[in-house]
Amino acid sequence: MHAAGQELVLAITGGSGAAVGVRLLEVLAERGDAVHLIISQGAEIVIREETGRAIGDLKALATYYHAPHDMAAPLASGSYVAPNIRAMLVAPCSMKTLAAIASGFADNLIGRAADVILKEGKRLVLVPRESPLHAIHLENLLRLARLGVTIAPPIPPFYQRPTTISEMLDQIVGRILDQAGIHTDLTRRWSGLR
Ligand SMILES: Cc1cc2nc3c(=O)[nH]c(=O)nc-3n(C[C@H](O)[C@H](O)[C@H](O)COP(=O)(O)O)c2cc1C
Repeated sequence: MHAAGQELVLAITGGSGAAVGVRLLEVLAERGDAVHLIISQGAEIVIREETGRAIGDLKALATYYHAPHDMAAPLASGSYVAPNIRAMLVAPCSMKTLAAIASGFADNLIGRAADVILKEGKRLVLVPRESPLHAIHLENLLRLARLGVTIAPPIPPFYQRPTTISEMLDQIVGRILDQAGIHTDLTRRWSGLR
């Protein structure tokens, strides 16, 4: 594992796959990374529906929690983000939040923090979740990919033959963290054919 102690933003939005965001939060907290957590209103509904987890328990795992309407949070300013933040993860990323980021429509802290991350040249990793994808979704993804944003959909590596959902989840989460420059032992690394 890399040295812990990174400062990151984790935004959980209302796409399906809330467990991915929750597991990311748990792993980062276990590592001792400083996590700025933002949970959208949409995500609160999906987290409850899909995981049954209490939102308060998740907030307690984060180093800092910022309400999505708190536009005065430090993350809303490049002067804080530039020297302090390593990367921002949006996981899962709803198509609404994707559209907001792709168009620079920063009407909540998630959109604003992503806007700041982009303008400061920091790493942005999106975990978009929708299926099927229509042309507007694809155009938004392409627009951001061309800016250097990492588009990492929560697709399980079936070639590793996962047998449980939690194993599949950890493989997905490990890959997402790789993209943020955080290399954990969650990911089973390919070492050639058996
Ligand atoms: C159970 C549930 C699952 C959802 N799954 C998705 C999804 O996979 N992708 C998506 O873009 N929106 C999904 N939505 C809709 C979003 O939550 C909704 O568009 C919300 O306004 C997104 O706002 P946010 O990005 O601020 O969280 C889902 C909603 C619910 C209640």
